Amino acid sequence: MPPSKIIIDTDPGQDDAVAILLALASPKELEVLGITAVAGNVPLALTERNARIVCELAGRSDMRVFAGCDRPLRHSLVTAEHVHGKTGLDGPDLPEPTMPLAPGHAVDFIIDTLRTEPAGTVTLCPLGPLTNIATAFEKAPDIASRVQEIVLMGGAYFEVGNITPAAEFNIYVDPEAAEIVIKSGCKITIMPLDVTHKALVTKPRNDAFRALGTPVGIAVAEMTDFFERFDKEKYDTAGAPLHDPCVTAYLLKPELFNGRHVNVEVETTSTLTRGMTVADWWSVTDRPPNAMFMGDLDADGFFTLLTDRLAQL
Ligand code: RIB
Ligand code: CA
Repeated sequence: MPPSKIIIDTDPGQDDAVAILLALASPKELEVLGITAVAGNVPLALTERNARIVCELAGRSDMRVFAGCDRPLRHSLVTAEHVHGKTGLDGPDLPEPTMPLAPGHAVDFIIDTLRTEPAGTVTLCPLGPLTNIATAFEKAPDIASRVQEIVLMGGAYFEVGNITPAAEFNIYVDPEAAEIVIKSGCKITIMPLDVTHKALVTKPRNDAFRALGTPVGIAVAEMTDFFERFDKEKYDTAGAPLHDPCVTAYLLKPELFNGRHVNVEVETTSTLTRGMTVADWWSVTDRPPNAMFMGDLDADGFFTLLTDRLAQL
């Protein structure tokens, strides 16, 4: 079976970096057509830089990395240096990128790729605010029907918010973009905090990354060592939650995940609950189901897959 074609839309971010590495370590299953950077964890100038750093760490300086939107559709940009550090990739000491940024805007790359590839053959993998994806859908309404699937990290229901009491960061930063994507009619699979908070990098799991002894293994161990401070302090968890790699792992081994096909809507008008994802988990409304909302994970299986694949780089 030929590899699945994907576009990774991302705001690296240590967890984004691990998601990208997992994808690049799996060429038999995934063909990364390009990586599109968006403002989120840190400003765009850093997210596009970090995406290139990660590609070079993986030995993929040939990868096309595009810069996309530098701010949300309506709101001013909210960033998360308190979680990811001032560069967004704090932890390992990695060299500045030498590979060039691909020419052109990320949104145009998404549009052109979806128009060029056969319909239904490209999966979009948003790992940050959905600004690039929503802008592409607004600019080229014809492309939504050509998307094979959108597998995104974002939202929360039982786990509630991580940037406000009600909202998860990716959705909070650009709720209008999230609403456009969720109402696009595309097949959507959502990795919310409900499931990503079960992908915790405990010390033995971090030790297994470091024990790979490779530049990738050591860098990932150092990234998650840095990245875990925020969540350990806030949630008293046993380690950093690997949010974004849940997207890549789902593409590789969907059986690791469990969820429900439910209706999901995004709050865009309330200041108090801006960016909240309202998942009708118990089907108490007549709103039609529009997304596969994940809730459970085989964490040991996830880390076995991740560590085995990182060893390939
Ligand atoms: O809330 C977690 C999400 O926000 C992750 O994608 C993380 O990288 C940040 O973008
Ligand atoms: Ca991210």
